[in-house]
Amino acid sequence: MTETVPYLTATAQAYDAVAVLYAEVSRDSLDRLPLDRAMLAAFADFVRDAGGGPVAELGCGPGYVTAHLRDLGLDVFGVDLSPKMIELAREAYPELRFETGSMHALDLADGELSGVVSWYSAIHVPPRELPAYFAEFRRVLAPGGHLLLGFFESEDDPVSEFDHRVTTAYRWPIDELAELARRAGFTEIGRMLRAPAENERFHHGRLLLRRT
Ligand SMILES: C[S@@+](CC[C@H](N)C(=O)[O-])C[C@H]1O[C@@H](n2cnc3c(N)ncnc32)[C@H](O)[C@@H]1O
Repeated sequence: MTETVPYLTATAQAYDAVAVLYAEVSRDSLDRLPLDRAMLAAFADFVRDAGGGPVAELGCGPGYVTAHLRDLGLDVFGVDLSPKMIELAREAYPELRFETGSMHALDLADGELSGVVSWYSAIHVPPRELPAYFAEFRRVLAPGGHLLLGFFESEDDPVSEFDHRVTTAYRWPIDELAELARRAGFTEIGRMLRAPAENERFHHGRLLLRRT
């Protein structure tokens, strides 16, 4: 399926090529980012308070966010386009489930999930394609299910491509992304903007949403 979509092939190949280095530098990154941990913890609380159930981290890379969500008490698995990332995630967290696939066409039933996390993975989706991804997130979430998005914020600029270190990626105005999610059938619960941490360049946006 992904081999017929050039930007997905390019993304998978780019992340395959850097997977080992990416896993090394990112593994402990949440330890240094209390506001990111706070947002992931809030997501976990909302999912649990709504009765729990399966959660997918879509675009999980080497799996450390998936493992963090598991440590927060969630029943979580990871999906990623890059076979190398999935291989590394399985090696690092053999007790967790990781599958290769694209988040625009998930091998999941309608309403199967209680939560979806896209943590810096939708950043690689061409803006015109993103509504279809949100529609897929909505399809696999049960009514009342939760969605957490982590992304680079564009700081008053319109949505724009930037020189991401791995492959083509886009920064979004948080209001515009929230509006896209609203039109796709999500209600905003909360949001966060945090300043760049050491060695980061941009403000970071987080949107916590509920399937309407
Ligand atoms: C910047 S990394 C983020 C990885 C991890 N979530 C983290 O925060 O470190 C982006 C990941 O999204 C994956 N990705 C990009 N587009 C995807 C898609 N359509 N379906 C599944 N994974 C995708 C890439 O392969 C890559 O592993």
